[in-house]
Amino acid sequence: MSKMIEISGLNKNYSGKKVIDGLDLEIDHGELFGFLGPNGAGKTTAIRILTTLTKPSSGRVLINGIDVAREPASVKSEFGIVQQHLSLNRDLTISENLQLHARLHHLSKKERNQRIADLLDYVELSDHADYLIDDVSGGMKRRAMIARALIHRPKLLFLDEPTVGLDAQTRRKVWDLIRRMNVEGTTVFLTTHYIEEAEALCQRVGVLHHGRIIAIGSPLSLREKLGMIAVEMNLNGNGTEYKYFPDRVQAAQFIEGLPGTERVVMRESNLEDVFIELTGQKVLGGVT
Ligand SMILES: Nc1ncnc2c1ncn2[C@@H]1O[C@H](COP(=O)(O)OP(=O)(O)OP(=O)(O)O)[C@@H](O)[C@H]1O
Ligand SMILES: [Mg+2]
Repeated sequence: MSKMIEISGLNKNYSGKKVIDGLDLEIDHGELFGFLGPNGAGKTTAIRILTTLTKPSSGRVLINGIDVAREPASVKSEFGIVQQHLSLNRDLTISENLQLHARLHHLSKKERNQRIADLLDYVELSDHADYLIDDVSGGMKRRAMIARALIHRPKLLFLDEPTVGLDAQTRRKVWDLIRRMNVEGTTVFLTTHYIEEAEALCQRVGVLHHGRIIAIGSPLSLREKLGMIAVEMNLNGNGTEYKYFPDRVQAAQFIEGLPGTERVVMRESNLEDVFIELTGQKVLGGVT
């Protein structure tokens, strides 16, 4: 069986600047995969290319064996997409937005009504079906966008920053929904600049930096490579230095050998550490 997604030698330049830089990546059927990267890393550009919205400068993308550049019309039925920015029609209700989208996918009236009722139930919006988009919360808008992306029962769902701007509780609700869809068989490809989101949700994470994958693997394997335990040394106002160790015993031995002039913290490492070690930058902007 072919892979769900096969990307080879993908490049995208905007006015001579490389935004996607030689991307190679394969995603299996059923994976829950995420691109983790800071603002401007190329996450949205990658998703736009994968979903036919932007043409690459070079390279090839296959979705379920279908060449995205050669067969853009037929490949569209393979996936659903939830874009980074609100893309619902604000003059319509939630239900009307879904109706509009279902018509675009040529569902019959009977199919449309049944499918929309099922999806509203699935994303827990049945009680808000007749609310205008402007009259519901950010989390509800996001869930409405997810319902809309699922209208045609795609086996692959792209989510670009699915929880950006949502509060912690609402974010968890969206995470639960994404997990549930994945358990039920949908392959998920998401992007995020939230470390906790990548760690909590993704089976495999690709760390994206300047359009390149600089590390890839499960959150655990990425941390293991670096060292599961981090030691932070606060150098009396001269910044913070980090060292990583396979376990707490080795970290403690290291701390014992320190002169004792620094403030020292021992903690579990995380994907932020992985990113900083590889790039010298924090994911959430700013150079360390
Ligand atoms: N249409 C465009 N024309 C010119 N430059 C663009 C265009 N779209 C994106 N870029 C540039 O490409 C780079 C990557 O942008 P992209 O939106 O893919 O990043 P991102 O990882 O999604 O960032 P964010 O976290 O802010 O959403 C940025 O430097 C951006 O300014
Ligand atoms: Mg983006």
